[in-house]
Amino acid sequence: MSTHSIEKKAFPAHFEWGVATSSFQIEGGGYEDGRGATVWDRFCENPANILDGSNGLVACDHYHRLEQDLDLIASLGVGVYRFSVAWSRVQPLGYGAWNEAGFDFYERLIDGLAQRGIKAYLTLFHWDLPQALEDRGGWGARDTCEHFATYAAEVARRFGDRVASIATHNEPWVVSILGHESGIFAPGLKNRKLAYQVSHHLLLSHALAVQRIRAAGCKTPLGIVLNQSPIYPATDSPEDIAKARLDDGVVVRWYMDPLFKGHYPADVLAMLGDDAPRVEGGDMALIGQALDFMGVNYYTRNFSSASANWESPASGDQVTDMGWEIYPAGLTELLCRLHRDYTLPAVYITENGAAFKDELVDGKVHDSARINYLSGHIQATCDAIAAGVDVRGYFVWSLLDNFEWASGYAKRFGIVHVDFATQERRLKDSARWYQSFLGA
Ligand code: FCB
Repeated sequence: MSTHSIEKKAFPAHFEWGVATSSFQIEGGGYEDGRGATVWDRFCENPANILDGSNGLVACDHYHRLEQDLDLIASLGVGVYRFSVAWSRVQPLGYGAWNEAGFDFYERLIDGLAQRGIKAYLTLFHWDLPQALEDRGGWGARDTCEHFATYAAEVARRFGDRVASIATHNEPWVVSILGHESGIFAPGLKNRKLAYQVSHHLLLSHALAVQRIRAAGCKTPLGIVLNQSPIYPATDSPEDIAKARLDDGVVVRWYMDPLFKGHYPADVLAMLGDDAPRVEGGDMALIGQALDFMGVNYYTRNFSSASANWESPASGDQVTDMGWEIYPAGLTELLCRLHRDYTLPAVYITENGAAFKDELVDGKVHDSARINYLSGHIQATCDAIAAGVDVRGYFVWSLLDNFEWASGYAKRFGIVHVDFATQERRLKDSARWYQSFLGA
C-alpha cells in the first residue's frame, strides 16, 4: 500500500510509536463540569476567525467518549499516546481553586491507558490558556509564568509517577507569533513587541515548571515540544540567503539557542531592536537548564525570499490540503542540523502528519497520499537515526480528524475519520497501514 518499504524492525527495539492529540482539538465538553473558558473559546466567538465559523465546544466529543477512544487507540497497536491537559478544566481561572471534576477526567484517561498497556505522554500546555489569565495580561504578563509553574507542579504531583513523560509547552513559536504578532490564532493580537515578550515568558514558564517539578522529587522525563522546519533560500541571491538565515533565527534558533546554549540569537535581537523582550537577571540560566528530551513537530520545509512576490514551486500532489509541501528529506536534514549545532537531549518526533481532502465512500477512506506521507517521514526518521541522531519515538498527528484551529473542521489530519454529525469514528486506510506497520 505504501510506496516506501520501511519496516518497524529497521528501528531500535525500544523506539516508541504513538499517536498524538490535544485537549482543545478533541475534547469538546466545553464549560462542562466546571471547565473554565479559554482564549480559543473566546477567539471562536468571532466566527470570522475560523475558516468554517466553528468552535471547540463539541469537537470530537472525546470528553464523553473516552473509553471508546481509548479502545480505538489500543486497537492501533501503539505503545504511547500523547495528549494535553486542558489547564482550565483542572483550574478554571488558571489561578486559585482546583477543579476535581477536571482532574477526574485525566485520572480516567491515564488509568485507562495503563489498563491497556499504553504509556502516557502528557503535555501541559497546547494553547488553551484560561481566559481569566488572558484578562490579566496573558502570556505578556510575567505573573502568568508563576501561575503556569503552580499548575504544572500540581499536575506532576497528581500524575507524575503514572505518566512516562511530561512536556511543558507545545510550539511556543505558534503561540507567540501566530497568536500575538500575525493574530491569526488566539488571542488574535497584532503586536510584535508583545509577541516577543510572550515568547520569553513561555520559555521562562517552561523553565520554572521544570524547576518546580524536579524540586518536588518527580523523576519523570521532562522536556518541551518545538515546531521546527528547515528554511531554505528561494534563490542563490545574497538577499534571499540573508532572509533565510534570519527566518531560521526567528523560527528555530530563537527557541533552540536559549534552551540549549543559554542565550538569544544576536541576529534576531538586532532585527528586533526595541521590540526585543525584557529579560531579568537569572532568566537565561534557568531557561538553559538541562532537559531530558526535546519534541520536534515536523510538517514541511519553508523557503525564504527577500521579494514579497516569490511563490513556492510546489503544487499538485506535492502539497497537502494545508498547502504545505511534502518533503520528507527535510526531517532528516533538520534533525542532522540540530544534532550538529546543539548538544541535544533525547529527541522525539512528537507530531508528523498531513491533511488531505479525504473522501468517505461506503464507510472507507482510501487515503494513500497520507500513507505515503507517513511512511516517507518514518523512513526520514530512520535515516536521521542512521546518521547518529538520538531519536527515540515517533507520533502520528493525529489520532482523529479534529478542530484544526483557524481552519476549524475543514482540514482533516486524522488517521481515523470522524463524522462530526454523528461522532462516528472509522479507521482510514492510513490507520490500517499503521496497524500493520506496527504489527498489531
Ligand atoms: C501543529 C499543532 C497541532 C496541529 C498540527 C497540524 O502546529 O501543534 O495542534 O494543529 O499543527
